[in-house]
Amino acid sequence: MINLGVLGNGTVGSGVVELIEKNVEYIKKRTGKEIFLSKILVKNPEKHFESDHKNIITNDINEFYDEKINMIVEVMGGLHPAYEYIKDFLNMKKHVVTANKDVVAKYGEELSSIAEKNGVSFRFEASVAGGIPIIKPLQECLAGNNISDIRAILNGTTNFILSKMFNENLEYNEALKEAQRLGFAEANPEADVMGYDAARKLAILSSISYYEKVDWESILTEGITEIDEVDIQIAKKLNCKIKLLAVSSKETEGVYAAVRPSFVSKHGYIGKVNDEFNGILVEGDAVGEVFFLGKGAGKLPTASAVLGDILNVLENNNQRSMFVSTAPRPIITKWKKKAQWIIRLHGQSKDKLRALVREYFKEVCEVHCELPEVYAAVVHAENEEYIDAIIDKLKNFKEVEKVKAFIRFDGI
Ligand SMILES: NC(=O)c1ccc[n+]([C@@H]2O[C@H](COP(=O)([O-])OP(=O)(O)OC[C@H]3O[C@@H](n4cnc5c(N)ncnc54)[C@H](OP(=O)(O)O)[C@@H]3O)[C@@H](O)[C@H]2O)c1
Repeated sequence: MINLGVLGNGTVGSGVVELIEKNVEYIKKRTGKEIFLSKILVKNPEKHFESDHKNIITNDINEFYDEKINMIVEVMGGLHPAYEYIKDFLNMKKHVVTANKDVVAKYGEELSSIAEKNGVSFRFEASVAGGIPIIKPLQECLAGNNISDIRAILNGTTNFILSKMFNENLEYNEALKEAQRLGFAEANPEADVMGYDAARKLAILSSISYYEKVDWESILTEGITEIDEVDIQIAKKLNCKIKLLAVSSKETEGVYAAVRPSFVSKHGYIGKVNDEFNGILVEGDAVGEVFFLGKGAGKLPTASAVLGDILNVLENNNQRSMFVSTAPRPIITKWKKKAQWIIRLHGQSKDKLRALVREYFKEVCEVHCELPEVYAAVVHAENEEYIDAIIDKLKNFKEVEKVKAFIRFDGI
């Protein structure tokens, strides 16, 4: 008999409870074990007076330390006290399943090793890309590969906003409001729109894929708040879309990892990921490219990943740690390979801006822009340091009022 304690009864917690209740018989048939919902932790019990589960809802964490509870689902979110609770429960030899990327990105390695020491499972499939199976496929199905690259859309909120800006010509603030109205963005959207949420998920995926510890706070992280309609128009002219792209690759001197708005071909795998969907393109040396697409958030999609983990634990699979214990790998934040960049300059004289760009870059492909004060072009650069150095020089000219640059990834 499995006595389950669920920490949190919000979007994901209520979905987990719903799925478990719907599948009690199936779970028993599949695993031979009965699952029993013992307790649900919330912050404000008065919000849950009308719940069918009010008899087992509590705000007292001590009730979960009961030794009869042998599995915990943590879906309350935030770093603290979630981290402390998970650690305590693993040390008490209770299995833990979580959807909490904040905790996994920061403490995943430590918690995995505590789980291993105690002979219990710590699983977190739902912490990256919600309902899309990605952690287990990376760890198991693709284990026969040396994974070299990840290129992904890992945040549904920003993808929804950018899709609205592209498809309906909305400005950033209008698209954000629409996302909030429909429940795709939180009242405080900072973690999403500034790219922190995607950076945490990229760190988790990279750590697992490269078998190296990747610290999310070292990842280059740029958000989407500065994207405007001119950027979108330039993208359209190039048959591209702008996506908040999370990219990492395994390099000899470390792991390259960055989250930033990037141009991608609108016909590629990533360019076709629209609205609140997530997409993850993984490259392995044996399998080649593998693409995962689906809903990266939401009540039941996320609960489906949590229930998958619960079943895995019940079937006694995969007790070993999902992380490797090493010192963090150096993170490279500058793109080292040859690439195309889209640069956009503002100034009083388009001719002067054009002349400056042609002076500094050998290969220039101009993008027609109706606005008299904007000059845009696709340029080629050997690496990002080169682009940065030239942008610094351009900014010193009195004729140049503003410069923006985006990397372009074709073929994804
Ligand atoms: N929402 C998604 O689609 C999604 C997708 C993937 C991963 N996740 C992750 O899943 C986790 C939960 O997200 P969510 O959207 O379900 O959050 P949510 O709707 O805000 O629900 C959080 C729940 O946890 C409870 N809670 C929060 N802090 C608590 C505390 N200190 N003590 C006791 N209870 C506390 C809240 O209690 P009250 O009800 O009393 O306020 C609420 O029931 C997060 O880590 C999130 O990143 C979410």
